[in-house]
Amino acid sequence: MPTKTLEALAGQPLEGLRALVRVDFNVPVKAGAVTDTTRIDAALPTIRWLRERGSRVVLLSHFGRPQGKAHPQYSLRPVAAALEKVLGMPVLFLDDPTSEATARRTKQMKRGEVALAENTRFWPGEEKNDPDLARQFAALGDFYVNDAFGSAHRAHASTEAVAHLLKPAVAGFLMAKELAYLGDALTSPARPFVAVLGGAKISGKIDVIEHLLPQVDAILIGGAMACTFFAGLGLETGTSLVEADRTAMAKDLLARAGGKLVLPTGAVIAERLAADAPIRSVRREQIPAGWAMYDVDRATREDFRTRILQAKTVVWNGPMGVFETPPFDAGTTAVAHALADATAKGAVTVVGGGDSAAALAAAGLADRVTHVSTGGGASLEFLEGKTLPGVAALDVT
Ligand code: 3PG
Repeated sequence: MPTKTLEALAGQPLEGLRALVRVDFNVPVKAGAVTDTTRIDAALPTIRWLRERGSRVVLLSHFGRPQGKAHPQYSLRPVAAALEKVLGMPVLFLDDPTSEATARRTKQMKRGEVALAENTRFWPGEEKNDPDLARQFAALGDFYVNDAFGSAHRAHASTEAVAHLLKPAVAGFLMAKELAYLGDALTSPARPFVAVLGGAKISGKIDVIEHLLPQVDAILIGGAMACTFFAGLGLETGTSLVEADRTAMAKDLLARAGGKLVLPTGAVIAERLAADAPIRSVRREQIPAGWAMYDVDRATREDFRTRILQAKTVVWNGPMGVFETPPFDAGTTAVAHALADATAKGAVTVVGGGDSAAALAAAGLADRVTHVSTGGGASLEFLEGKTLPGVAALDVT
């Protein structure tokens, strides 16, 4: 059943009510300053909509993995400062979202005021989905909005348990947008529907491949995980990263895929992973002992580009090579450009978060695809067909 969204509350009087909003402000911070505000910007439509209706907005988020203890380096204070800049207004910082004094303080907030609570993971109950901690969080609001798609695969007190305690519990605009784009791509894709999967390990993507295979017209495979497929075909893979315990599975997948799994035809190889290492381009049957595949070759880039440009729906997750180390970024950048060009031709293109989103941004193409997910792990679990606990706990229409 469809998840209830903030839009469903449009006709209700929200003036003066406290909206407890779970956001994902797990953003990159260096030397005490936020270096990328994408996730903060993405939460703005929800925050603004609530403010315009006179709600008082109390934001909850985790930041990093402080393991249930208060660590100054994991404080959300620098994020509050970045939020103030983005919103252009002061943000109240709540040091202890579990105290009664804080709950009372939220009741004194002005209409339209915004508060950000300290890192939910400073409390051990957060990752245990503890109902007592959830009750303390629930005391900070009159209704609940989950806009943290990036954390929706976590059943934590601030994403799951609290949604059972505070009603209504609805999806914010970012969450709704993520579910719509990723969901539509999977349930009613315009065809041809092509998935592009990369990354180091087949073990991390096996569930995605299994879930997508019956639905797609093709899955283009890149990254080191292609080497596990090469090994499954009985090819020499040199010193490439191969998951030896998965080669039989790779072989079986290829047999079952009926031609839908498209492997690189060639590789860019080197004897060591370094920007200055001599490189060669070889066909996949020619990877010599002592050399490793670090990217897909030019012929593969062209083949993948042609297939992507013919598609009407493209979902991309995972780099084609070691894109952090040029020149092994060429395959990933080529896929980023192909997605942008397919979008310009009218295709729906959806990029899973994490590395692919970073590569897209590095190529300056983040705004040239239909949708870039703000969730890394969450988008992957969604593509695996798993139920996301943070979504399942929300009200349905
Ligand atoms: C992310 O950055 O993918 C999310 O914020 C989830 O973070 P986590 O993997 O630490 O739960």
